[in-house]
Amino acid sequence: MILDGKEIALRLQNEIRTNVEELKKRLVSPALAVIQVGEEKASESYAKNIRKEGEALGIYVEHHKLSVEISEEDLLYNIRNLNARKDIHGILVELPLPAHINKAKVVEAIAPEKDVDGFHPINFGKLFEGTTPFPPATAQAIITAIKSVVTIEGKFAVIVGRSNIVGKPTAVLLLQENATITIAHSRTRNLQDLTKMADILVVSVGKPKLIGRDFVKPGAVVIDAGINKIDGKLVGDVDFDSVKDEASYITPVPGGIGVLTTLMLFRNTVKAATLQNRIV
Ligand SMILES: NC(=O)c1ccc[n+]([C@@H]2O[C@H](COP(=O)([O-])OP(=O)(O)OC[C@H]3O[C@@H](n4cnc5c(N)ncnc54)[C@H](OP(=O)(O)O)[C@@H]3O)[C@@H](O)[C@H]2O)c1
Repeated sequence: MILDGKEIALRLQNEIRTNVEELKKRLVSPALAVIQVGEEKASESYAKNIRKEGEALGIYVEHHKLSVEISEEDLLYNIRNLNARKDIHGILVELPLPAHINKAKVVEAIAPEKDVDGFHPINFGKLFEGTTPFPPATAQAIITAIKSVVTIEGKFAVIVGRSNIVGKPTAVLLLQENATITIAHSRTRNLQDLTKMADILVVSVGKPKLIGRDFVKPGAVVIDAGINKIDGKLVGDVDFDSVKDEASYITPVPGGIGVLTTLMLFRNTVKAATLQNRIV
């Protein structure tokens, strides 16, 4: 069966809207600042999507579009200003950044309590401890999608891809949900032998059709986080047509995990506003 991100998204949107209304009743209006450096098409459309989704949820999105030539110092100055503002609860710096800017310095400049992306070293450390308030958005989206169809506890999960953005945080969250996990990457030997054992298979690699039918255990839940463009069409890392009859559930691309990711960012923003205003 197709694990439809859009259906889960409707539920999530309602949950977030309700929480936003609760906050507004207490005179807290959740707000997210999005910093875009340069005018790359992908960053431009990501910012546009965030603004649109924020509007639909009642969350204010302040878009800071900065020149590609901005100095690192000036970018850090902008972040510090946003850190100091009481009316901004979350800060997102769009990646990638131009080569003359040190990404680590930028991520570390964001106040941990406003780091709704969850990549500040303090929050990333807390992720492993199980105490971060802001689990990274894509990993949260993946866990929510899996939980909507199966119980995670006791399952054997294989995560293909070990990026800090998707693979590692997803593995940690699955472990917290009491799955037994294995993480595979480009140097993993006999990938297929591993993936064929997985009750839950999560793929975040960036290679179209990497995972075919022969890589999947019958009845497995298959989550495809990959986003690739072929001839102008979006496809995932899983060969959807060949795997769909083998898996019990499979996320499509588009319309799967990608749909949920931005919502998780807003869920984190609402949480940030709640924590900053000491609302329990
Ligand atoms: N849905 C969303 O919200 C979302 C969010 C972020 C990214 N994405 C998409 O997810 C995909 C991956 O992005 P990412 O940032 O997670 O990863 P990434 O940083 O691009 O790294 C790719 C990972 O895949 C591994 N890999 C490469 N070739 C492999 C192979 N043949 N077999 C097994 N593993 C292999 C790499 O191993 P090594 O570590 O050994 O190099 C690495 O860990 C992209 O298509 C991206 O657009 C989607």
